[in-house]
Amino acid sequence: MSVQQPVKKVTTHVLHAMKQRGEKISMLTAYDYSMARILDAAGIDILLVGDSASNVMAGHETTLPITLDQMIYHAQSVVRAVRRSFVVVDLPFGSYQGNSKMALESTIRIMKETGGHAVKMEGGKEITDSIIRVLSAGVPVMGHLGLTPQSIYKFGTYSVRAKEEAEAQKLLEDAKHLESLGCFALVLEKIPADLAKKVKESLSIPVIGIGAGPHVDGQVLVSHDMLGITKDFHPRFLRRYLNLYDLMKEATEKYIDDVKTGDFPNENEQY
Ligand code: KIV
Repeated sequence: MSVQQPVKKVTTHVLHAMKQRGEKISMLTAYDYSMARILDAAGIDILLVGDSASNVMAGHETTLPITLDQMIYHAQSVVRAVRRSFVVVDLPFGSYQGNSKMALESTIRIMKETGGHAVKMEGGKEITDSIIRVLSAGVPVMGHLGLTPQSIYKFGTYSVRAKEEAEAQKLLEDAKHLESLGCFALVLEKIPADLAKKVKESLSIPVIGIGAGPHVDGQVLVSHDMLGITKDFHPRFLRRYLNLYDLMKEATEKYIDDVKTGDFPNENEQY
């Protein structure tokens, strides 16, 4: 009989302590049970049920179409798989920008229906009321600044943010503001490495980067990009650890061939 060892779960306290002792935090996205099981077993610290599910799972061009119900479905599948990781769920576009009551109602649905551990919201000072209200209900909030994909039509492009002094200054102020409200961590997406370093050194909460250079407290990537399941996406910040697209395509071609030639199933693969 195999006895499962007790697991030391990742919590906001664990993440804070990791920052204090300079231990880097690893974070990846997950949207389904099977993938979350592998990433959790590998020892990932944070799993983000990102609204990038809209792109990589549903094939939309942007993150805007994904709904709260769809995010809840993805988060339920991820939470079922997790033994150790801390699970953060993105509040999707349209589920929190309206007013703080809406933000709280969306968050309560996520926490009750999925068992996730925290929510993430994109934006700075402009979403202050929503952050305060969600935090006052006892739910940890992760901030997200820099390239915030829910505002893609305002930016007009996915290029690097905050290269100009005025935008960099605003980002630094927003980051300090999010910490002062009580956010437990912050994601910085696609900003210059020097600015990310400045933000990291100005805050006592963990700062996790994606395309924000090495001087932050941790890194996050979209797992489908990191594993090479997505194909035509080559931003400079992305390191691919596998080329699953080609491996899966080759395996599928071999399977088709085996079916067509009658090689599969053989005598050991039948009853
Ligand atoms: O939805 C997502 O995948 C994200 C990461 C890019 C941080 O927000």
